[in-house]
Amino acid sequence: MRKLPIAILQDANVEAGIASFIKGAKVLDLACGTGYYSKRFLEWGAKQVVGVDISKAMVDAANATSTNLHALSFHVTDCSVPFRYEDGVFDVVFGAWLLNYASHGKEMVNMFRNASVNLKESGHFIGVTPPPTNDPRGHGDRALAARPARDGNIVVTITKDVEKGVATHLESTMKTGKVEFDAYHLTKNVYERSAWEGGLEGALTWRSVESPDIDSGVLESLRSSSWLTVPHFSVLVVVKE
Ligand SMILES: C[S@@+](CC[C@H](N)C(=O)[O-])C[C@H]1O[C@@H](n2cnc3c(N)ncnc32)[C@H](O)[C@@H]1O
Repeated sequence: MRKLPIAILQDANVEAGIASFIKGAKVLDLACGTGYYSKRFLEWGAKQVVGVDISKAMVDAANATSTNLHALSFHVTDCSVPFRYEDGVFDVVFGAWLLNYASHGKEMVNMFRNASVNLKESGHFIGVTPPPTNDPRGHGDRALAARPARDGNIVVTITKDVEKGVATHLESTMKTGKVEFDAYHLTKNVYERSAWEGGLEGALTWRSVESPDIDSGVLESLRSSSWLTVPHFSVLVVVKE
């Protein structure tokens, strides 16, 4: 999946979103999965990275594929339960595709609180989330019309309405197998209110999706599947104040 054009676009946007905070930073990577971004952060200049994930299988895979273990550590933990990690206060807390597991605002508040209790004052939370909209169903319908099921693509379908958004099913079928999981797309208002209630009361920015320095072939493929005009993700930046 990391080689799909949409993944290349996401990486470029994560790097652009975190670039000004990463040099020499101590970073907490929430829902780190196999530690893909944890390892990228060290390449991009972080001093130390702690990755946490609810799945032991993911954390085991992260450990098994890491070499720089003096600067990198991984732990199993539920990020929807606020918890102050032993490793201390962080300059940056990152979370790619964590907040979309919150099925309602209260759960999301706890995820943001988990970020805020571990962040230094004036530190930054950076998240990869579904695109900001107060009409998640409308967005989902537009995305499906723009990108109907196709081998190798990521297809997100809506499975039901929930109080402040929709439940979603993501599926991607490749030659090597199928990846699928269930999550939620809650409204922009829920995200913004939850950040505030979770203790991140500083400036909140939804970065628009950009395509800096992306290979022209990849860019062409992104354009033809409308990934730039009907986005799949956003990079959210919130300051702790
Ligand atoms: C789509 S993967 C993203 C992994 C990683 N952030 C990345 O971008 O490569 C979502 C991850 O969220 C983790 N996850 C889901 N709910 C969680 C929770 N409550 N606490 C911690 N991790 C969670 C899953 O185990 C999975 O590894």
